[in-house]
Amino acid sequence: MRILLRFFLEKPAPHDAPSAENQENKMDQENNENMLFPVGMDNTLSTANEDFVRENLMSDSFLDFVEENTKPIDQMFAYYQCAIMEVETKFKVLDESLSVELERNPIESIKTRVKSVDSLLRKMKKKNIPLNLSAIEERINDIAGVRVICSFPDDIYDLASAFLAQDDITLIAKKDYIKDPKPSGYRSLHLIVEVPIFLKDEKRNMKVEVQFRTIAMDFWASLEHKLHYKHDLPPERAKALADELRDCAERIENLDQRMQAVRNEIATYNEENPKDASFPGFPF
Ligand code: GTP
Ligand code: MG
Repeated sequence: MRILLRFFLEKPAPHDAPSAENQENKMDQENNENMLFPVGMDNTLSTANEDFVRENLMSDSFLDFVEENTKPIDQMFAYYQCAIMEVETKFKVLDESLSVELERNPIESIKTRVKSVDSLLRKMKKKNIPLNLSAIEERINDIAGVRVICSFPDDIYDLASAFLAQDDITLIAKKDYIKDPKPSGYRSLHLIVEVPIFLKDEKRNMKVEVQFRTIAMDFWASLEHKLHYKHDLPPERAKALADELRDCAERIENLDQRMQAVRNEIATYNEENPKDASFPGFPF
């Protein structure tokens, strides 16, 4: 897979594929949503992606050429994988250390992914990014992705501020779609950060996109994402489902707040009654 990108960087694609242009945004979202995969680039292309690559990038001379030039690309992806490992470890450490104080784990799960090559190519095309590695590193912020899933909204902000307070983390951008949801109803806290990775002879700062969600927000985003791929739905049904999802998003926001309030009350009770600090049947 990475050899295709190498080729793309060295020569313009033979011709444009208008259908691919239309799919770029959605493909990138798919890639972000597909964070169930552990770090790695080896998942096979879907048929649509394969078509994109075939139509745009493949030729015999290209294949000969790229086989000789794969290393810098492989290295770049390896660096992003290292950055993901650094960030994931930081969250595991925060989860473990906070669990003593909170008597519960603030993180439910962590998902990570490196952007797929075809998704990267689509984004480069969409943003008209020059065909070289430094331009990619400079202008694409989500090659490395880490998604942190929490039970409660407050945990998101506590974790984000503890993470950002670490002296080797540099905040590049913050988008708070929890306080200010997208028109679709999408809620999540996004941070673009730089984290150093330490290599044999050098230290490199790598960008990582971190998305924080509650379980409910993540559930919603996964389902809403599927709607993007239902191209065969009649427009009125697509609109009705989008409306329904917006309504679900509002209910989910309310549910998150209510669950947070219940948990807070239990925590307060536990603090005020240290000798009888547990409610039978509640995992707090
Ligand atoms: P890219 O979308 O990555 O090009 O960058 P951007 O600057 O537009 O970032 P934004 O913060 O809007 O979105 C980044 C990622 O958040 C997306 O790739 C998705 O994973 C997720 N996301 C944003 N909006 C939505 C949405 O409406 N629905 C769902 N399901 N996911 C979304
Ligand atoms: Mg993205």
